[in-house]
Amino acid sequence: MQTQTNLPLFEDIVAVRSKIEVSRSGSFVDNLALPIHRWFRYSAGFSAQWVEQVLAEWKIKQDHLVLDPFAGSGTVSVVCDTMGIPSLGIEAHPVVARILKAKLLWNTSPERFSAFAESVLTEAKKQNPIKIEYPPLIMRSYEQEALASLHALKSAWVSLQDKSPESELVWLALTAILRSTSTAGTAQWQYILPNKTKKRVIEPLFAFQQQIGIIKADLRWMQAQSKQSYANVVAGDARTFASENKYNVEAVITSPPYANNYDYADALRFEMTFWGDVNGWSDIHDAVRRHLIVSSSQHSSRERFVLEDLLASDSVAAIRTELGNVVHELADVRESHGGKKHYHTMVAAYCRDISLVLQQLRIVCKPGARMCWVIGDSAPYGVYCPIERWIAELAMAAGFTDHRFEKLRDRNIKWKNRKHRVPLKEGLLWIEG
Ligand SMILES: C[S@@+](CC[C@H](N)C(=O)[O-])C[C@H]1O[C@@H](n2cnc3c(N)ncnc32)[C@H](O)[C@@H]1O
Repeated sequence: MQTQTNLPLFEDIVAVRSKIEVSRSGSFVDNLALPIHRWFRYSAGFSAQWVEQVLAEWKIKQDHLVLDPFAGSGTVSVVCDTMGIPSLGIEAHPVVARILKAKLLWNTSPERFSAFAESVLTEAKKQNPIKIEYPPLIMRSYEQEALASLHALKSAWVSLQDKSPESELVWLALTAILRSTSTAGTAQWQYILPNKTKKRVIEPLFAFQQQIGIIKADLRWMQAQSKQSYANVVAGDARTFASENKYNVEAVITSPPYANNYDYADALRFEMTFWGDVNGWSDIHDAVRRHLIVSSSQHSSRERFVLEDLLASDSVAAIRTELGNVVHELADVRESHGGKKHYHTMVAAYCRDISLVLQQLRIVCKPGARMCWVIGDSAPYGVYCPIERWIAELAMAAGFTDHRFEKLRDRNIKWKNRKHRVPLKEGLLWIEG
């Protein structure tokens, strides 16, 4: 087992920050060098430095409110905190929302945090090895000794946890080391691959102590920048949050799920299984997926949507004719595919859900508010869906007044190993009004 990591410690942070090239949107990989952002690896959609740049260009001030309706692990919330700007993040995945809330506890005393972590470590070392039972995914993903150490840390945390900020931060530290200490590979977008073993595995007690050191250094760093967090998080649904809450939002920066069959509900199945939140894949729908917007065919098939009902929804009225043509073509094409995936209802439900979110945004945004959506189009079964144009049209129908799409990169243009040859793109959808 190797016991090293490439994460920079406190002294290196400033140097690393200044070295990173600020691209137009970047990715979460850039965030892994930044304090607080690096506490948990997640498919973020954009880099923290790009968010900072957009807020500066828009001249967002400390009496403004910034919203991310698909907050994820909180890149926007954390950037706003570093700039002293109030923010609101909505996140429907319960565990992702918990991670985001934990990151916003950066005002916790570093001494109290490390004392709590120390007591967890001491308690874990006292535990006697017993026969450890976990669901098969976890049993297959660790060497026996490593799982015993993680189990000892978990049991120690469970016995000592008191819902204090420091206890929540230690929960995050332990959650964050579950992949690096496992022999299982991680595919793109964080899908866990227990059949693919990786060589570089970190010993759990070492990984835990190292993660505690990183968090402690970042608490100090952040407390030297800012005095308090002005971030709010709603662990809830962006399709409905505005009915109960009135806000005066000046700016929205967000990256929604794309209509590309990526299953966000599955992203943290590994972590959720370790903690006992779910027993396996089949629990994920009720525990997580049904709370999210529809962006995967697993979701639309489980919900047994009726295509014509989705198309009859008022929410898609602005794009109904073109959407109807595309999803009917998808319904036809699916008949010639073995998997018979429910892309036709996935795309229709996706548009309905995005439209519901835009209607909520219209309620909470000030007149003249500005939005930037990092978004890509898609082509399930090779049928092209102009997602960014549809989102723009749905935004105009919701009451926003202007839009502009800025292409950043081509996708799916290297044909090798691709399922279809439709060129795709990704970019920034700027919306105002
Ligand atoms: C591309 S990720 C956003 C990542 C984020 N920019 C970050 O910094 O980590 C999209 C997020 O939308 C969330 N999501 C999906 N449906 C949602 C809904 N109905 N309401 C709120 N969040 C939702 C997913 O769980 C996922 O975390």
